[in-house]
Amino acid sequence: MNQQTLARLAQVLMAGDKGLLAMDEGNASCNKRFAVRGIAETAEVRRCWRELMVTTPGLGECISGAILCDETIRQQLSKGISFAEALTEANIMTGIKVDGGVKDLAAHPGEKITEGLDGLRDRFNEYFLLGARFAKWRSVITLGKGMPGQACIEANAHALARFAALCQEAGMVPVVEPEVLMTGDHNLVRCLEVTELVLHAVFNQLFIQGVNLDAMILKPNMVLPGLSCVHQDTMDEIADATVHCLLRHVPAAVPGIAFLSGGQMPVEASARLGAMNARFRSRLPWALTFSYSRAIQEPALDVWLGRESAAQAAQHTLLHRARCNQAACRGEYSAALEFSS
Ligand code: G3H
Repeated sequence: MNQQTLARLAQVLMAGDKGLLAMDEGNASCNKRFAVRGIAETAEVRRCWRELMVTTPGLGECISGAILCDETIRQQLSKGISFAEALTEANIMTGIKVDGGVKDLAAHPGEKITEGLDGLRDRFNEYFLLGARFAKWRSVITLGKGMPGQACIEANAHALARFAALCQEAGMVPVVEPEVLMTGDHNLVRCLEVTELVLHAVFNQLFIQGVNLDAMILKPNMVLPGLSCVHQDTMDEIADATVHCLLRHVPAAVPGIAFLSGGQMPVEASARLGAMNARFRSRLPWALTFSYSRAIQEPALDVWLGRESAAQAAQHTLLHRARCNQAACRGEYSAALEFSS
């Protein structure tokens, strides 16, 4: 695929007021979410949950792409078509998570490195044949005493850039996800400092590895105080810090930025994205949208609880969150929307 076609694919994903649905949690993470709700932790129940999501009527009006995991892209819906075919029917592009998960970084206690580059070229070719047209790789940066160190930031930035170059070579759009975790008592200023270091390192490595910035999507954290920080900043302070950080570090060639939710409450994640777009949208060189997993799935999961009888109500809840986030992309989110059907 030539670079212009790839850039057009990225633009399609980031067009208008749509966002991405991250439904790529690995089996262990998905099971953990099921376990706390008393839902059976089996491959078939995971398949049912994902079928419920992708068959939600109207989802394609708010969601441009859905990120699957390896298990789901190989499964079928009950009517006998693949998840990629079902997504195409719904006007949603199929994405795939290709990283091999986070492991301890040698010689750096407490820090993580994402594995999975070995054999990635072959896996990309297979995923392309299975219908994927974009792919995601997540790196995790932990804040703590003396953390993150330069070794962790550089190793993860390098892996993200190697992934992105291979992804584009395979004709797929890379979603580059360097996540600075919310866990900890650090304040917003510390999150800002680290997010700046990380984005600087990531774009430096993307340049070195020859990644085409026109044909990629950045999936960063918002700039936030840690979950256990005593001072929680206002919506406007968070919007200001996040947008100014991104303006300083993300080149205008990148077509879109799609935030992860990272453990924010679903309503908070919509409201903060809404505040950024309401205040800055007309001045931004890239689209600012969402690629949430927990913040979009969990309210619907709470309604479903594995019960067939609650499937329709759960789809309604999923669509509601998708619509709230879509309004946030337009800068039109308000708390009143939460009470609309
Ligand atoms: O890898 C993480 C997902 O892509 C985003 O998940 O929205 O729950 O942070 P999250």
